[in-house]
Amino acid sequence: MKTIYRKVDDNNIDISVLEEARDILREGNLVAFPTETVYGLGANALDEHAAAKIYESKGRPSDNPLIVHVCSEEQVRRVVRNIPDNAKKLMDRFWPGPLTIIFDKADIVPFGTTGGLHTVAVRMPDNQIALKLMEISDMVIAAPSANTSGRPSPTTAMHVKDDLDGKISMIIDGGEVGIGIESTIIDVTSEIPMILRPGYITKHMLEEVVGQVEIDSAITGPMKEGVKPKAPGMKYKHYAPKADFTIYEGESTKVSEKINARAAECIKQGYRVGVIASDETVKNYQFGDVVSIGSRKDELSISKKLYKVLREFDDKNVDYILGENFESDELGYAIMNRMLKAAGYQVEKV
Ligand code: TXA
Ligand code: MG
Repeated sequence: MKTIYRKVDDNNIDISVLEEARDILREGNLVAFPTETVYGLGANALDEHAAAKIYESKGRPSDNPLIVHVCSEEQVRRVVRNIPDNAKKLMDRFWPGPLTIIFDKADIVPFGTTGGLHTVAVRMPDNQIALKLMEISDMVIAAPSANTSGRPSPTTAMHVKDDLDGKISMIIDGGEVGIGIESTIIDVTSEIPMILRPGYITKHMLEEVVGQVEIDSAITGPMKEGVKPKAPGMKYKHYAPKADFTIYEGESTKVSEKINARAAECIKQGYRVGVIASDETVKNYQFGDVVSIGSRKDELSISKKLYKVLREFDDKNVDYILGENFESDELGYAIMNRMLKAAGYQVEKV
């Protein structure tokens, strides 16, 4: 299959490109498009055969449900059984934005989209290209991150191309995304709302709107036998680079010393080493491919670059990644959640 590739300026959207995408979606085929979090791989959410193509092209396990993207409250009502009060409050406060809400699904939503579940994940992305695409196609779009399953999510159209060129019908390039890690997922079908995946919208931000919020305990550490995360996708070793990744935790100068020593040792043995530093500490490192992932004073700069850095290390065939750890509150909590998963929870305290 030849993948059509089109650039779109989100300040001056070329509608003819979106019409081309609409026609492809209506035929039951796949279009990758930008959102504010990561690129999504879209298909008609109400067409089971189209959804099946998503699983096939990504190599995604079929029990891992898709997020349904919408552009209006009217579209939400098409796919959910009802809108609980808490959900309504969250929609009003955070949409369009990086928050996915779990609802009981309407009958019209096929189990092929929800991975066999009776619930459906819904989100209204804060990206004009995505919103306009849904509006002109009058379609709710199922879209997981547009990466090959198991690889870091794509934050540019080039990342999508690297993974899915020749396997999908179209890629819409809307430039680099603004957030860089996937949306927060919250389940409001239980009495106390529960975060199933941390993201840019933090626990505190959610609690300001709906009161007490819990975090699914299954996602706070390595997978435990018999404990299943409520978001099926969180059980997979996700976001993972090919290299052996270790995070070093402790006081900053000690961490730098330890990483320098370990990097020197690996290089001596003939391995390629990548070091994840920050703007504040990058000068402390002497060995390997040293990359600053952003500033500790600006967590968004870190979330935006995380997957890009992991992909770049893959491209360079790095054998070992040695990373600093970051503050784990607010957005930092979501960043560390993804970093720890990428590292398979390999942490060394120094
Ligand atoms: O930011 C995002 O959410 C991006 C962009 C493209 O919107 N999408 C994304 O999709 O990250 P994906 O497929 O990579 O992750 C979806 C997550 C998975 O962990 C999945 O298990 C969970 O959402 N999920 C989907 N439907 C669910 C449901 N009904 N109940 C619980 N978890 C669900
Ligand atoms: Mg994903």
